[in-house]
Amino acid sequence: MENNRDFDLIIWGATGFTGDLVCEYINNNYEYNELKWAIGGRNQNKLLKLQKKLKIDDSRIIIADSSDKESLIKMAKRSKVICTTVGPYAKYGTYLVEACVEAKTNYCDITGETQWIRKIIDKYHSTAKEKHIKIVNSCGFDSVPSDMGVYYSQKKVFEKKGKYAQMINMRVAGAKGGISGGTYNSLSNVLEEARVDKDVRKTLANPYGLNPEGKQFGPDKPDLRKVIFDKVSNSWIAPFVMAGINTKIVRRSHALIDFKYGSDFSYDEATLSGKGILGKLKGYFSLIPIFLATRKKGSLIKKWLTIFYQSLVRVLLKKQELADTITYDFI
Ligand SMILES: NC(=O)c1ccc[n+]([C@@H]2O[C@H](COP(=O)([O-])OP(=O)(O)OC[C@H]3O[C@@H](n4cnc5c(N)ncnc54)[C@H](OP(=O)(O)O)[C@@H]3O)[C@@H](O)[C@H]2O)c1
Repeated sequence: MENNRDFDLIIWGATGFTGDLVCEYINNNYEYNELKWAIGGRNQNKLLKLQKKLKIDDSRIIIADSSDKESLIKMAKRSKVICTTVGPYAKYGTYLVEACVEAKTNYCDITGETQWIRKIIDKYHSTAKEKHIKIVNSCGFDSVPSDMGVYYSQKKVFEKKGKYAQMINMRVAGAKGGISGGTYNSLSNVLEEARVDKDVRKTLANPYGLNPEGKQFGPDKPDLRKVIFDKVSNSWIAPFVMAGINTKIVRRSHALIDFKYGSDFSYDEATLSGKGILGKLKGYFSLIPIFLATRKKGSLIKKWLTIFYQSLVRVLLKKQELADTITYDFI
């Protein structure tokens, strides 16, 4: 890549919930002479407001709209890397990937939309490789802790034992916060696409659905869909809402390093809900948000169950021991 780009990094979608957090983090942690970065989006007024909040120069504002390919190419040509938080990616993301490939610009996102990642891999992976640029999907909460967690754990296991672990079970011990508006829209869009497209359903159902063609094999079964007792963690476990994307990302990374941990390497994810009858009940309770997220917007069951769930959470959060379990903690 030429070294004459105006910026090292542009955060596109800077005016959104997640984009704003990313900008705040970068602004607080990097000097401009260390990392030349800019904010991007479609709405000039919102960007000007953000620019003032961040106290950065207005030359660091880039306007680009997902429906205007020229604006995306122009933006991509100005930076070494584009980080996008504009979603649903299946609706607004494809042209940007195309623009980055065309402009030879590295790209990363925080998508959790498995079916879209599959399309992007099929369409752009080989060209990106030829052009020596990187397209890196899912650099957010999904799926960095899972992907890097496996990488780090295997490194440590190898240092200690001289061989890799044949199996890794990731268990989420607690979670804090909710689902952002953008995440909800993206999840709804995945479900909508799955309803009408059988290829999307096939990708979602295949544990190895993001692996390269010819490498879609291994011992793993579809993700957990019920509450069971887990002998490994000696606890009840329940489905983890992000497992669908995370496990596939981990398996793809493993395939891309030529099955370094062995072709029988197995990985799964679940939420840890505790021991005894309370643990089992907590497991069932944790299914409610997943059930809600997969219902149609505006449905009556969704409306009433949401009110019930939120009231219950409010009551339970008053109990400190429960509040303690509602922070992310990976074991
Ligand atoms: N992987 C993770 O851990 C993780 C975590 C959180 C979110 N996400 C994903 O990140 C995405 C964003 O979520 P969010 O909650 O931050 O959403 P959000 O608050 O709705 O923000 C969306 C951003 O996209 C911009 N945008 C929308 N349509 C656009 C278009 N046509 N052209 C250019 N920009 C456009 C919006 O601009 P305006 O301000 O002008 O409307 C806004 O900046 C979602 O896909 C979500 O699933 C992933």
